[in-house]
Amino acid sequence: MTGSSLTSAPAETLGIDIATARALPKAEVHVHLEGGLALADLLWLAKENGESLPGPAATLFDVSTHTDFEMPEETTGGGDGVGTGGLSGFLRFLDWQCGLVRTPDQAARVAYAFAARQSSSGVRYTDAIVNPTHWHGWRGKEHDLMAAIAAGLAEAEQDGLCVVNLAWSLLRSQTATEAREIVERIVAGPSPRIVALSVDGDEKVAGRTGEKFSEAFTLARDAGLHRTVHAGESSGPEGVWDAVDLLHAERIDHGVRAIEDPALIERLISDGIALGVCPRSNLTLGVYDGWASHPLPALLDAGVLVTLNTDDPEPLGTTLAHDWVETSAHFGWGLDVMAGFAARSIDASFADDSLKAALHADLSETVATARAKQKSTEMAR
Ligand code: ADE
Ligand code: ZN
Repeated sequence: MTGSSLTSAPAETLGIDIATARALPKAEVHVHLEGGLALADLLWLAKENGESLPGPAATLFDVSTHTDFEMPEETTGGGDGVGTGGLSGFLRFLDWQCGLVRTPDQAARVAYAFAARQSSSGVRYTDAIVNPTHWHGWRGKEHDLMAAIAAGLAEAEQDGLCVVNLAWSLLRSQTATEAREIVERIVAGPSPRIVALSVDGDEKVAGRTGEKFSEAFTLARDAGLHRTVHAGESSGPEGVWDAVDLLHAERIDHGVRAIEDPALIERLISDGIALGVCPRSNLTLGVYDGWASHPLPALLDAGVLVTLNTDDPEPLGTTLAHDWVETSAHFGWGLDVMAGFAARSIDASFADDSLKAALHADLSETVATARAKQKSTEMAR
């Protein structure tokens, strides 16, 4: 990749088409398994469990419905408490739907289906975030849940689908002791496919939690677990500073509001910390008003290691390939810029080195073929 290919492309480029978006070998580094359950999954789960739906099946995923979602019944699910609308309502919807997953077989099946959908977008490796507090039927059995999910992912991989590893995500309202005990248990093993510690949920509702989780993240780092932290979504740059300074974050999930602080941008660049940016999620959940005000091009131009992800593809009604097409069209990015996103996604992922090398080799070949095709099309004109 040349230096210029990593900057915003000139406006005359028209974006990439869906076939190219699918063909580019890539990783997805910011996607929640909770946001990877399809509408059809919810329907068969509800039927199997004899549960009624909180609304008409066909409109269950309407954003206007789930951003002010009220839990249909009292649960012990996740969510960071009292927030209403936007992100908080959305997180309550995830609580409800994950509450439908009750058995190891059901958990394995939704994980398998998730891996298949990732493959449909040409995703070859995924770090999937799982926050067990959303899955409220598994209280006290969180490791069983993770093992069942890992079994579904192992079967998917065996069948030739996307390799998916797991980032165990803390909820911001968990205590320091709970967080430490979770890490100790992960490290004690067996913890198949768990490669990272994460924290997600609504930063605005929970307030700053860096100090509280510092011990757990230090323990994770010292034990060789990767670290990825939601910050700079509903919090400003201060959340990103905490993630970097207190939680040893290797990646920031979202992190877009870092653009408000030039010193922070310098720090992300000098430490090689990648951002898992999800523009559609930001627009849908109201972090930015529209594509024109989204800072992705500014972050890219500044030299931050930005990656392009979905966050919660199913309730947001999208796929990674579709979002790559739409983002490239909105910002006028052609093949070279999007190939840069693919390369950074591989580098920023927690895949092992041999898989990263294989993906880079495949990417180079795919880009060379696509360039040759572009050239011959231009010459034929
Ligand atoms: N969990 C699922 N989606 C999320 C988001 N956009 N922000 C924080 N936590 C989440
Ligand atoms: Zn997220």
